[in-house]
Amino acid sequence: MTEVGIDGIEVRTGKLKLDLAETFAPAQDEDPGKFTKGLGLYASSLPDVYEDIVTMAANASHTLMERKGLTPEDIGRIDVATESAFDHSKPVSTYVAGCLEQVYDEDFHHANKGERKFACISGTQALDDAFNWIRAGRARDRAALVIATDTALYARDDPGESTQGAGAVAMLIDENPDVVSFSVEQGYGSADETDFLKPNQQFPSVDGKRSMQVYLARMREALEDFEAMGGNTHPENFAFIPFHTPFPGMVEKAAVLGYRHCIRGTDIEEEVAEKIGRQPRPEAFDDEEEYLEAVKDYTESLSETTSYQEWYQRTVEPTLDISREVGNWYTGSVHIARVAGLKRALDEGWEIAGDQMLVGSYGSGAQAEIHAETLQSNWAEEIEQLTITEQIENRYDLSFDEYEEIHDVHNHDAETDIEPRTTPDAEFVFDGWGRMGERKYTYVE
Ligand code: COA
Repeated sequence: MTEVGIDGIEVRTGKLKLDLAETFAPAQDEDPGKFTKGLGLYASSLPDVYEDIVTMAANASHTLMERKGLTPEDIGRIDVATESAFDHSKPVSTYVAGCLEQVYDEDFHHANKGERKFACISGTQALDDAFNWIRAGRARDRAALVIATDTALYARDDPGESTQGAGAVAMLIDENPDVVSFSVEQGYGSADETDFLKPNQQFPSVDGKRSMQVYLARMREALEDFEAMGGNTHPENFAFIPFHTPFPGMVEKAAVLGYRHCIRGTDIEEEVAEKIGRQPRPEAFDDEEEYLEAVKDYTESLSETTSYQEWYQRTVEPTLDISREVGNWYTGSVHIARVAGLKRALDEGWEIAGDQMLVGSYGSGAQAEIHAETLQSNWAEEIEQLTITEQIENRYDLSFDEYEEIHDVHNHDAETDIEPRTTPDAEFVFDGWGRMGERKYTYVE
């Protein structure tokens, strides 16, 4: 069967930067180490006055289409995944299409457009929809444009404030892809949970500690489901393991638990057993608490083994490079983790074509999904065209007062009118309001 997967990818960060150690920590009277060491985050990306989820999505998509030599007639569907939509009816994908139609002669009138919602996992669900649409034979030789775009803002002084971020990832899904193909095998872990939600409100209600527990529980279920479907999870099988990354510290916690699960009954468990013993098995304990305590001790010892640390440094740590600098992009977060790993491989000259990645997505509410991806022979040519490193370096570094103002600019309930900190250059910008309360956009040369 023909391979289907990501043929091209483009990333767009918000143009403003909030430095967590230098700017946020002192103003909040916090130790910078809480953010840099505890959460593993150095900075957040935020949108300038004229940026939002539509401009970031449209600008990423435009660059991607130009690079791939595509026009609207080559695109058969546009799906936007977001949890920061500003309209309960009209999908963000229509706004994005409207932007793109300003710069192309053709239109997207025959493309199916939609919006996907399930917290941070909806970007991966939209990839799934595109895969199924192509495999069902409905694509008529056209590709799907999947865009994950979010402005992840929390209420001021919420514990989540330090994990904010804003950006978009546009992905072109097609047959015989250039970057990765998707596995048919996939696993789900899904349950009705109340860890993070926005019931008709802009800023989330979050039970942060609980959301971390739910992330780990659903991810384990998804892994078991993936294995039940025949997916191989031997840790040495993968070049990278990109996880949903609300902040790198979350991934550090998930990685060691995943490693413990995946080495069970393998050569690696035997190898580390010489130093730390074999994993506790529930049948060896009368009391569940004792078993859980033994598992905790084993996991701690495992995290200190050379086997684990080498594996983590090779397969997981590189995927955090972008996240550390930009914060949580919600729906885009697992997709920048994939890009970060591939960028590291490119910079280091690693030969990974034909290798596999195991991708772990998660959305609060809650659902995890795991699938595998196979790196295609042109992955490096695609990744070397990305400008995300330069975009990150060129962000405007906000003072704390400026940060407070920009938070208000993007707060739907606040009235504020300030000058942008950056100048638009050949891009879509937010341009005010229309007569029915719609947001309007224009392309600035
Ligand atoms: N140096 C080093 N580490 C430090 C530190 C310092 N000075 N101060 C604190 N830390 C560590 C803490 O020990 C903790 O690590 P641990 O979890 O391994 O114990 C970590 O930094 C965070 O500190 P904590 O006090 O727990 O932060 P918090 O209560 O302010 O909130 C979240 C952290 C993640 C709960 C919060 O940012 C949040 O609600 N985020 C949004 C929800 C989210 O992203 N959930 C993830 C699943 S999707």
